[in-house]
Amino acid sequence: MSKSLPLARLGVVGGGQLARMLAPACNAHHVQMTVLDPMHNSPAGQVAYGQIQGALHDPAALKTLCEQSDIVTFDLENVGADILMTLADQGVQMVPAPATIRLIQNKFEQKRHYQASGIPTADFIDIGDNPDFAVVEAFGLPCVQKAHMGGYDGRGVQVIRSAADWDKRLKTTSFLEKFVSGGTELAVMVARRASGEMVAYDPVEMVVDPTLNLLDYLVAPARVSDVLRRQAQELAKQTVESFDTHGLFGVELFVTDDGDLLVNEVAPRAHNSGHHSIEACVTSQFENQLRACLDLPLGATELRGVALTANLVGEPGFVGSPVIEGLDELSQIPDAHIHLYGKDECRPGRKMGHLTLIGKNHDELIQRFELVRNNLIIRGDTPQ
Ligand SMILES: Nc1ncnc2c1ncn2[C@@H]1O[C@H](COP(=O)(O)OP(=O)(O)OP(=O)(O)O)[C@@H](O)[C@H]1O
Ligand SMILES: [Mg+2]
Repeated sequence: MSKSLPLARLGVVGGGQLARMLAPACNAHHVQMTVLDPMHNSPAGQVAYGQIQGALHDPAALKTLCEQSDIVTFDLENVGADILMTLADQGVQMVPAPATIRLIQNKFEQKRHYQASGIPTADFIDIGDNPDFAVVEAFGLPCVQKAHMGGYDGRGVQVIRSAADWDKRLKTTSFLEKFVSGGTELAVMVARRASGEMVAYDPVEMVVDPTLNLLDYLVAPARVSDVLRRQAQELAKQTVESFDTHGLFGVELFVTDDGDLLVNEVAPRAHNSGHHSIEACVTSQFENQLRACLDLPLGATELRGVALTANLVGEPGFVGSPVIEGLDELSQIPDAHIHLYGKDECRPGRKMGHLTLIGKNHDELIQRFELVRNNLIIRGDTPQ
């Protein structure tokens, strides 16, 4: 079958690091990627074929992006889903469907969807805006309060163990979820084509910083049994199928004390837990995202080795233009891969890049990482 080039004009809503890392796959396929982002010179705008500067909820900006694109995909889910649904109804091809983005935007609706679809997830109740601690106690402590809308990177999540924690509750419409005490968190990236063809990556193990509720580092494959790994892949595929659309999805899972799997949440896009795939897998998550958008056969997901990925976040106590320390030392380490996201302002905790190490076994890799992390610092150029 012959195809004319460029293969497509791909529009991406959001020009952050995920769209930036999609750019090499687009370039390799002669796909012209245009991103929509409010920020001039956004991380992806710096490397894309084109950038439209505009808000992600702005009807006119979203319409312009659609007019300039054959297919539209996403860098994040906090976008004007209702407007996108109208544009999709008018015939603009979007991967995944904006109805799925809209469902996923609301964590509570997402949970209800899992419940209705027979997908295991931690028990939950809606509390809306009710500040009554008696309701929380009746549900049972410890539990987790989650905002319906707008949470990301652990914001919008509050663990409640006591009345004192409740005093620090999120002051927004929320629901309560049972605290899952197993301590192991997995994530599975799944790509799905319009035909239904699906591939799942090896589950990765997310090691979360318990104070920030933010990913510390992840290792692939997860250090769990082969049986659990396969079950996680099957559950992740079932979860993606339940949305009845296609694209790339990150499925976050909890392992309970009893060794059962529960779906935490899904990202309808590339995900932090798939970054290692750039160097460590036969096909990167970004290439499979592009293939799912273009309806091309999906690529193999096998790992080439054991991988560890860590976010490089802004050092506390500094703001301003980014400064990196330890790059010379890092560059001397074999199979260490740095990705800097091109952000021109560094703030404490801001994701500025990530680092992937590849090796032969987990212990050696984690040791190597502990050495690296002490030397490698990214910070603003001005003390706060
Ligand atoms: N029910 C739960 N039981 C135990 N820990 C939980 C629970 N829900 C969330 N957490 C912890 O909080 C972290 C963040 O929660 P969640 O993934 O729901 O929020 P998020 O803001 O979307 O985070 P991210 O953007 O980092 O994925 C989880 O990875 C987990 O460590
Ligand atoms: Mg999460």
